Amino acid sequence: MSDLYARHKAVLPDWLALYYKDPLEITHGEGRHVWGDDGRKYLDFFGGILTTMTAHALPEVTKAVTEQAGRILHSSTLYLNRPMVELAERIAQLSGIPDARVFFTTSGTEANDTALLLATTYRRSNQILAMRNSYHGRSFSAVGITGNRGWSPTSLSPLQTLYVHGGVRTRGPFARLSDADFIAACVADLKDLLGHTRSPAALIAEPIQGVGGFTSPPDGLYAAFREVLDEHGILWIADEVQTGWGRTGDNFWGWQAHGHSGPPDILTFAKGIGNGMSIGGVVARADIMNCLDANSISTFGGTQITMAAGLANLSYLLEHDLQGNARRVGGLLIERLRAVAAQLPVVREVRGRGLMIGIELVRPGTDEAHPDAAAAVLEAARAEGLLIGKGGGHNTSVLRIAPPLTLTVSEAEEGAAILERALGSVH
Ligand SMILES: Cc1ncc(COP(=O)(O)O)c(C=O)c1O
Repeated sequence: MSDLYARHKAVLPDWLALYYKDPLEITHGEGRHVWGDDGRKYLDFFGGILTTMTAHALPEVTKAVTEQAGRILHSSTLYLNRPMVELAERIAQLSGIPDARVFFTTSGTEANDTALLLATTYRRSNQILAMRNSYHGRSFSAVGITGNRGWSPTSLSPLQTLYVHGGVRTRGPFARLSDADFIAACVADLKDLLGHTRSPAALIAEPIQGVGGFTSPPDGLYAAFREVLDEHGILWIADEVQTGWGRTGDNFWGWQAHGHSGPPDILTFAKGIGNGMSIGGVVARADIMNCLDANSISTFGGTQITMAAGLANLSYLLEHDLQGNARRVGGLLIERLRAVAAQLPVVREVRGRGLMIGIELVRPGTDEAHPDAAAAVLEAARAEGLLIGKGGGHNTSVLRIAPPLTLTVSEAEEGAAILERALGSVH
């Protein structure tokens, strides 16, 4: 055991899980690569859990952060903050939400917490509809709407949560139905559920479930849900913490795959926008955002240093059409991985869109999750110089691939070749 690992174990919580039998310290990065304390260079297909959205050490972001650090790091929300106003203006406009207001937080958890506070206050209800297999953060309120046992350390909650079908297309009671029938079955189930409840405040959903293993419903499910929710005045919260900013290639926001419903009432974001700086936030219609009748601040939310990073990062993303790159390079990568998987019975499914790709592993010939195989592929990929992630419902048996959105075609090919060998080695 390395000295740092021993010190980690001695002083940090047991539940703070590390990847790899021999955990890795990442010392620096550049572009789509990082370097480890083992002296090796790695192609990074996980970007620090989808946070390094554009590139490691992107000069534009480094410059903006350095310049801002030389002026002021933070002044709190008690004072006017130019970079915060500028980033809020840009995000409000990009969100598609009419008359939008933006509140910045320091994490996705705090963003979702805020969304729950807004929705429950606005609707005077503590009931929340959430999706099975969901993940929305680690706080007391967020774990109360988490439909994934592996990330749900308590069932105590200030909220009453009702779990809805539909976030996982290829497992569960409706898996064998066609897309249209799947949607119809989920809508019928939602209607039935609503017939047995009081009046929920909101439905919260990740358009593609992140921690849950990059699972998603057929396009259009949330639009169909929206029609039902609207009849009851129930709000729709889209958790775009993983799916935002063009990562899914086809769309800038994940909710747009359900486009004809129009934008959600509340949208939450975090992870990629700061390229590693702690930015989270909530966008909501003004009447919803302004429904609180007491003060509320996040002391570090929207601090100048993080906003400078966010502005530079977002500008780079838009000016270089990284959504288009995610669509093109992600499309090639998923095709290549599907071809590989077709030869390997350990792979149940390759799914996702853009640069958000999941590979679900099972015990060959069954539908049984195979977490040991996922762990083995993770190690084998690392041995060949590729970092990937893991996730998935009951057992973490889904490999998660989510590189920085500047990924090149040759890097995608290099990563796919390593994955082919890594998957083949467990087969
Ligand atoms: C969809 C989703 N929502 C919320 C969160 C929580 O974000 P954070 O870890 O920044 O609190 C995560 C984190 O993985 C997430 O994937």
